[in-house]
Amino acid sequence: MEDKKGRILTGHRPTGPRHLGHLVGTLLNWVSLQDSYECFFLIADLHVLTTDYEHPERIPENILEVLADWLAAGIDPNRSRLVLQSAVPAHAQLAVLFSMLAQVSRLGRVPTYKEQVKQLKLNPSLGLLSYPVLQSADILVYKADTVPVGEDQLPHLELSREIARRFNQLYGQTFPEPKALLSPMPRLPGLDNRAMHTSYGNAIYLKDSPEETERKVMSMYTDPTRIHADDPGHVEGNPVFIYLDVFDPASAEVEELKERYRRGKVGDVDVKRRLANVLNEYLAPLRQRRLAYTAQRDELIEILFKGTQAAMPIAMATLEEVELKMGLNVFRFPQSAINHTLFTRR
Ligand code: TRP
Repeated sequence: MEDKKGRILTGHRPTGPRHLGHLVGTLLNWVSLQDSYECFFLIADLHVLTTDYEHPERIPENILEVLADWLAAGIDPNRSRLVLQSAVPAHAQLAVLFSMLAQVSRLGRVPTYKEQVKQLKLNPSLGLLSYPVLQSADILVYKADTVPVGEDQLPHLELSREIARRFNQLYGQTFPEPKALLSPMPRLPGLDNRAMHTSYGNAIYLKDSPEETERKVMSMYTDPTRIHADDPGHVEGNPVFIYLDVFDPASAEVEELKERYRRGKVGDVDVKRRLANVLNEYLAPLRQRRLAYTAQRDELIEILFKGTQAAMPIAMATLEEVELKMGLNVFRFPQSAINHTLFTRR
């Protein structure tokens, strides 16, 4: 811990297998941060219920899919803790306590919440409204100071900082104000050039076979202004070239290819063939690791269990500290251990 830059908590909701958008938007960044930070990676299954409470049967399988994809991407269970949110009750308990410090009017203005209510046309539950309160508890229950996330999560991080600040003001210095760390990579578009999203059917998954990957790449959106292979093409904003910039190690060749594309000297099909090969080569070791893990289902579960067990006492200690500071559950402690100054210090 001493030689580390700080403590990270971040996570995903287990909504299904991970795609290249997850990989580039978050996972590769997490993998590289494992050297310099103490890392907690959270599978946020409680958060799934904020929208998908009608399909509980999907959650256990999706947890294992996410886990296998994380490990395939290079998350190292020997260095980082993989934690199952619902198995550490302190997350939910701290969220209840934080909910006392979060105003309903403030939560109603969170952009992700407003969007979801509009998009899903649902009558929002209390759970959905307090989504970022639970997320704040996820982070602060480990007193994490750094949260690597995609841009979409910034409003939630802002709320976490507000809650930490408010708690510290009211009850004395307890929490760091966690800061977001954005992925240095560009946002990866989906096959149809919208954001890559499972529900849009425009994603390439880490678990896709080489054939499936190739088929998807061949169907990719490119440059709509280009009808014939010898029309001059546009490279900027063209998903195929955005992918090549991310995944093709031969960047000089990619630059040359762009030049020929601009002059109408190379067709879409050739560029896509190259991308399919590049992707399949890139994904080969990930697929191999994934296969090894999914063949050992018990080992996968064991990894999650171990990480969760290691996280538990840290979360419990924070919860106890918070309860005491908020005047709760005080009498479980021997009288001598209750420091009177705790309640007079502010
Ligand atoms: N809301 C995050 C997402 O949808 C998942 C998440 C839950 C999370 N708790 C977190 C991310 C705590 C960072 C920190 O991707």
